[in-house]
Amino acid sequence: MWRRLMLSYAALFLLSVGITFFHDFGIVMMIFTGGILLLGIRDITQKKHTILRNFPVIGHFRYLLESIRPEIQQYFVESDTNGAPVSRIFRNAIYQKAKGDIETVPFGTELNVYNDQYKWVNHSSFPAEVHDKEFRVRIGGDHCTQPYEASLLNISAMSYGALGHVAIQALGKGAKLGGFYHNTGEGGLSPHHLGTGADIVWQLGTAYFGARDSDGRFHPESFAERAILPQVKMIEIKISQGAKPGHGGVLPGAKVTEEIARIRRVTPGKTVISPPGHSAFKNPHEMCEFIQQLRELSGGKPVGIKLCLGRRDDFVQMCQAMVETKLMPDFITIDGGEGGTGAAPFDFINYVGSPLNEALYFVDTCLRGYKIRDKIKIIASGKVFTGFDMFEKLALGAELCNSARGMMIAIGCIQAYRCNMNTCPTGIATNDEALQRGLNVADKSHRVCNFHRKTVIALSELMAAAGLVDPDEIELKHISTRYRNRIRTLEEVYKHTADLSENESFDSQFEPQTEYQRPTPVDDSAAMGLSSKTKKKDSDEGQMRKV
Ligand SMILES: Cc1cc2nc3c(=O)[nH]c(=O)nc-3n(C[C@H](O)[C@H](O)[C@H](O)COP(=O)(O)O)c2cc1C
Ligand code: SF4
Repeated sequence: MWRRLMLSYAALFLLSVGITFFHDFGIVMMIFTGGILLLGIRDITQKKHTILRNFPVIGHFRYLLESIRPEIQQYFVESDTNGAPVSRIFRNAIYQKAKGDIETVPFGTELNVYNDQYKWVNHSSFPAEVHDKEFRVRIGGDHCTQPYEASLLNISAMSYGALGHVAIQALGKGAKLGGFYHNTGEGGLSPHHLGTGADIVWQLGTAYFGARDSDGRFHPESFAERAILPQVKMIEIKISQGAKPGHGGVLPGAKVTEEIARIRRVTPGKTVISPPGHSAFKNPHEMCEFIQQLRELSGGKPVGIKLCLGRRDDFVQMCQAMVETKLMPDFITIDGGEGGTGAAPFDFINYVGSPLNEALYFVDTCLRGYKIRDKIKIIASGKVFTGFDMFEKLALGAELCNSARGMMIAIGCIQAYRCNMNTCPTGIATNDEALQRGLNVADKSHRVCNFHRKTVIALSELMAAAGLVDPDEIELKHISTRYRNRIRTLEEVYKHTADLSENESFDSQFEPQTEYQRPTPVDDSAAMGLSSKTKKKDSDEGQMRKV
């Protein structure tokens, strides 16, 4: 094939040379066909791309089309509901809220309401009044002297580095305007975060950026120095992240600029490794002690952990350690396996870690079983884009939610899938100053604020429709779905095999979604869980069940 193509290019070139004798236009043709011939020679002699060796010149169209495939897919192929990870219908809903556009939808739902995944709110015939007050959740247990009143929706962890400084400022200013918190992500506390005046949650990952010694170990003095800043409201220890649980990270030397190095307390130009696990603690007991150490170093601020649920025995052992040491996190952020990232390996982004809903239910149940639920707040993160998403996560046990990609979309992310290439066309996930120039902090911060406010209002409207006045009243029975061709409330769906013996006829339709293997060190008396999700206000008393 390549021979025939090359012969054609050579023939075209010779033809243009001939034309030059009769017409000036031949010179233009000669330059053009000569270029094609040279490109063809380069293609057949290079050894990297088989397609180009076999199909010189025309093979480049394949790479061109491949490079614009996401755009073609998004603009011409994908329907409103099948785009991933965030389908157009949800992106539009976020844009509309953020921009303050008209929010009503004409004609009817685009969702397939007979799809097995479809869920709906069970409204009441006697709706409650919509409250426009902003609900707050108090975070901070017994050992906390500076508890924090958090909004129901906040900005999830995204580092300066993964996002450019303009995006960080737009998000932070939005949080300041709307009175909610901005999580720094594991990249450390930067002047771009602090400069906005927003409430900050300082996240510490395994590399302890901003609070590390020269060997990358946790450095208490460096931590305390900034953890006591009044603007830092809470501390979050990142154990794992939904998109890449159990996987560390590498920050290439080229990206370690003077500024990043100063913020992260690393050496400029030198590659930095974030290990998969923490060096400050190696087991659940040490984790609890570390939590308490951070609490003391920060002057009594709430300290929590963020994790994507993996091995359930790990989590049970954590609960066991919390009970034994009487040292617990003030909050646990549960990140779903569906969570986003700037960059993660294929197998981790797709196949590691529990999806959010099942994880929330498990964690809520487990904490109740250990009778520590009232001391720890649960924060949900994973595709929280709408009031309904919040309603569902609260029903499953969370008290509040975080959003990362929702906030990115609010400031203009078009889902171009280039977050890991520093070429983000919307200037969000890039440090390229030229691309960031297009992001206007004043405008985008209002969008973040609008998205937050209108999503929380949407939640209160859903609550009111269900006859509820307080987020604490949202229960699994308020949502229904189709489960194995029958209509069930989520309360029924999430009932597991422990109930089978009690009521075979009903529960025989429900198989356990996962089996919990009790780890040996766990004390039998700390019974796990409830037979089904009950009100948050209910007692922590639980009965043994498989989860
Ligand atoms: C660009 C980007 C950077 C992120 N960086 C961090 C991080 O530094 N630490 C962390 O715990 N999670 C990080 N995450 C995960 C988010 O905080 C969040 O938990 C996850 O994306 C799920 O929320 P979402 O579905 O609203 O995006 C990042 C996510 C994105 C999209
Ligand atoms: S627009 Fe930017 S932030 Fe959004 S997905 Fe694309 S590269 Fe990532």
